Amino acid sequence: MSFDFPNETIQEGEVKVVVPKLAAYVKKPWDYAPSKAPVFYNPTMELNRDLAVLALQTHQKLSEREVSVCEPLTGCGLRGVRFAAEVGGVRKVFLNDIKPEAARLAGFNAELNGVANCVEVSNEDANLFLSRHAAPRKRFDYVDVDPFGPPVPYLDSAIRALRNGGLLALTATDMAPLCGVHPRACLRKYGGQPLRTEYCHELAVRLLIGCLAMMAAKHAIGIKVRFSHSVDHYVRAYAAVDYGARQADKSIQKMGYILHCFSCFHRETVSGIISPLKRVCPSCGAKLGAAGPLWLGRIADKNFCSLMEREAKQRNLGQEKRILKMLSLIQNEAEAPVTYYAVDKICDKLNLPIPALKKVIDRIRKAGFQVVPTHFNSRGVKTDAPADTVKEAIADLATQKG
Ligand SMILES: C[S@@+](CC[C@H](N)C(=O)[O-])C[C@H]1O[C@@H](n2cnc3c(N)ncnc32)[C@H](O)[C@@H]1O
Ligand SMILES: [Zn+2]
Repeated sequence: MSFDFPNETIQEGEVKVVVPKLAAYVKKPWDYAPSKAPVFYNPTMELNRDLAVLALQTHQKLSEREVSVCEPLTGCGLRGVRFAAEVGGVRKVFLNDIKPEAARLAGFNAELNGVANCVEVSNEDANLFLSRHAAPRKRFDYVDVDPFGPPVPYLDSAIRALRNGGLLALTATDMAPLCGVHPRACLRKYGGQPLRTEYCHELAVRLLIGCLAMMAAKHAIGIKVRFSHSVDHYVRAYAAVDYGARQADKSIQKMGYILHCFSCFHRETVSGIISPLKRVCPSCGAKLGAAGPLWLGRIADKNFCSLMEREAKQRNLGQEKRILKMLSLIQNEAEAPVTYYAVDKICDKLNLPIPALKKVIDRIRKAGFQVVPTHFNSRGVKTDAPADTVKEAIADLATQKG
């Protein structure tokens, strides 16, 4: 088969695929080649795809059955072809893209890797495609929504196309709204208020999961969050759907607000969908900012992360080192308190030199609090210590008392 655009063959994971030759689509230094090319391919998302392979394999093993998989926005098909070639227990992979050239290339790549027998490719709008699978016996065990920008336009139909217990994976690349640069856009799309804090990436994950929880609740479906992460220019969440009005109610109970003091670093959570009235910092009296409603529940499941880690160690992933580091951090912070303190941000405000993170952690732990590093920020700590204790620990270290 021939393609009438510059292309090349690349290797990722255990597959070889034909993709557009990105160098041919960079005319000006600021050109973003993946979306200029006639078919979408982004090599920097390898880590995202590696983690998806691990999550799908973990989900398949936990569900103890052959699974059907769907990638409704597939681009060149690389992710879905990897699912078919690298994940055991996959019965069928359904790939879809609205662009005819993309669907053609995805089908070609399935053939190239000898998995065409278990890959079905279609070429239509993702919502139409998902809606055609929103009926008993047609639903999927795993749906991976990986669009440009927000996944929100596809959420409703993706939820309806998942069988009970199925896993939904979501990528959101619209970090400007989610991190509070465009708060009105975030409220419009995700139904929650963002806040420009040093932990805005965690808020982004919580806003995305909160949006999913509320959307699923409309269908009397609850969610169980398995894994999430923030890296480079996007956030990602994996949640299983749990059919039932009671399960949906339980999810809604995990919604709430995070209140933040921009003056003294104090933060607190308030459960519930109704906007909290109390807006004054109990520590310094300043007015508190509020983010939400968003997801206040766990954003990763320790056991699921540990199984993903086990899978990663049995493979030869391109991004193995980064992945193992991320999985270890995420596992360790899975049960840690909401939000984190960015040590450099505190030092900046208090005009102090930045101490080693390990020393800050030891100091807070010695004071009797739970404290762990976080994958969200290499200078961040998640702790149940109040902001004053964190600041004291940092100040003590800076003045060599520690
Ligand atoms: C970010 S790319 C997908 C990348 C791919 N998931 C991967 O891992 O390489 C988004 C894709 O969605 C497709 N797309 C955009 N709008 C769509 C729609 N309404 N229905 C189906 N596909 C759509 C685009 O053509 C593009 O290929
Ligand atoms: Zn305060």
